[in-house]
Amino acid sequence: MTTVLVLNGPNLGRLGSREPDVYGAADLDALRAYLEASAPVGTAIDLRQTDDEAELIAWLHGAVDARTPVILNPAAFTHYSYGLRDAAALVTKAGVPLIEVHISNPHARETFRHTSVISGIATGVIAGFGFDSYRLALDVIVRRAAS
Ligand code: DQA
Repeated sequence: MTTVLVLNGPNLGRLGSREPDVYGAADLDALRAYLEASAPVGTAIDLRQTDDEAELIAWLHGAVDARTPVILNPAAFTHYSYGLRDAAALVTKAGVPLIEVHISNPHARETFRHTSVISGIATGVIAGFGFDSYRLALDVIVRRAAS
């Protein structure tokens, strides 16, 4: 069984009620169900959310140790957390894929969202496709694992 970690940063626990015009009306449980339905047999989805930067960093350390591929929506941490960037770099420098995803397209929004301190060390970035940003990232991870 291959596990894919799907990590979500601050305020994403409020999906469903948070700015539905931007993020849609579905919540994290719906995201989990969507990814589980999209994952091929033999791939498990471990979806987590935290508002705590230290917890998110600890989860990334765990991904390094277990060599678990990561789909990461860093949420607002995207734009300023060098601590999270350094932890994410540990993942990709270990040769483990980490794909940065966003539900919205940050480049089409406020200027402060145009900067990502994570993108430079991510394996790749997918943004602007709603929950499909995560599904596309899952597709890439599964394909790479199979090749
Ligand atoms: C987000 C975009 C970020 O700018 C924002 O802070 C979020 C969500 C997205 O998924 O579109 O919390 O990462």
